[in-house]
Amino acid sequence: MAKLWGGRFQKETDRLVEDFHSSISFDQRLYKYDIKGSIAHALMLGSAGIIQPDEADAIIRGLEEVLADIEAGRVELSVEAEDIHMNVEQLLTARVGKLGKKLHTARSRNDQVALDIRMYLKDEIGNITTLLRGLQVSLMDLAEKHLKTVMPGYTHLQRAQPVTYAHHLMAYCEMFRRDEERLADCRRRTDVMPLGAGALAGTTFPLDRDHVALQLGFAAITENSLDAVSDRDFAVEFAASASLIMVHMSRLCEEIILWSSAEFSFIELDDAYSTGSSMMPQKKNPDVAELIRGKSGRVFGHLQALLTMLKGLPLAYNKDMQEDKEALFDAVDTVKKCLIIFRPMLETIRVKEDIMAEAARGGFTNATDLADYLVRRGMPFREAHEAAGKAVLYCLKKGLTLDRMSLEEYKEFSSLVEEDVYQAIDIKNCVGSRKLPGGPAPEAVAKAIARARRRLK
Ligand code: ARG
Repeated sequence: MAKLWGGRFQKETDRLVEDFHSSISFDQRLYKYDIKGSIAHALMLGSAGIIQPDEADAIIRGLEEVLADIEAGRVELSVEAEDIHMNVEQLLTARVGKLGKKLHTARSRNDQVALDIRMYLKDEIGNITTLLRGLQVSLMDLAEKHLKTVMPGYTHLQRAQPVTYAHHLMAYCEMFRRDEERLADCRRRTDVMPLGAGALAGTTFPLDRDHVALQLGFAAITENSLDAVSDRDFAVEFAASASLIMVHMSRLCEEIILWSSAEFSFIELDDAYSTGSSMMPQKKNPDVAELIRGKSGRVFGHLQALLTMLKGLPLAYNKDMQEDKEALFDAVDTVKKCLIIFRPMLETIRVKEDIMAEAARGGFTNATDLADYLVRRGMPFREAHEAAGKAVLYCLKKGLTLDRMSLEEYKEFSSLVEEDVYQAIDIKNCVGSRKLPGGPAPEAVAKAIARARRRLK
């Protein structure tokens, strides 16, 4: 088949090269954006008098028909036509004849592909933002139900101080909110219209770039034609934001996996979101959580691939940049898939509140509260820390917990201890009195949820 760029060539492209450099197998997903961009370009060419207005009309009608054909699966996209841009142009020319050959006036595939992926990414950032917001709503709804569900908080995966399930979930809500902000920020830099940059040095034709930007819903136009065709920073920024979203999901998945083990037994995953073993009849595995954790690696990989793709490229466009698409597409697909399944998996978890509370009572998570009690009675904190530590050691030797030590026993460690110590080290009170903004007390978390809901509006 004749190439759209065949003029200066005397030989056919080798079959191997044809397959090797063609991107149609993956960039076909950009067809809608490519056609929309071409329609705006043609319209502007017509109104700027670069082509006749009736020619622009015919081209636009042709493009709309090509769009309908692709959507209905009536056309076959060809590897020989290389990519989605030249496939669309060929299909257009097949429909409207010679006129189709005017569409590419004052445009290069270099600015065209930059336009297409920016349009695509803006849409997908919108979709991912909606999913992130949905997940935040689920976390807030669950947190509201579990304001008083006490569980141990950990450092070094050792029981540390008591918190609540609500507080724990709301920690993730904060992470996903930051993710949303990062995406919004990335979107601002994606929302810049590159057409008019041509291959690298603009064009001699009097294009109305602002007109195109306005029609396609872009906030601004690119400032420098060299940068416009060689910039993929927005793709890198997206992959970085996507990587952090995966990190956040993966961390919660890790906890879900731990918590659903017999060793923790804090939660049980719903049957619909677990799977069995082909050999061991008793097994109920947290595969969904494991897969999300596992898939985070490929998104980090795409970030690395994009950075590496760019780092040695001289200005302006280089074919290396065709490699941006599969990385970007897979990052988008993976994040979306994981966010979609995360929500119902989380919502259907059965929380074993008794076991969580029991775990919080064991492990001396109230030892800090004992020290704080002594501080309130006048002891310097460092001494109080020492005395409480000794009390813990005593309990460990005697097989006791702090709340089962008698007042006489306490007096051995400090004469400052009175009957009210039992109030101070009661696990519910330990949580309830941590009511500073940002703390785990039910009233503090309820306020945090209210603030988070307002922000989401
Ligand atoms: N398929 C190409 C890509 O994705 C489009 C741009 C090709 N430009 C060129 N000068 N060969 O990057």
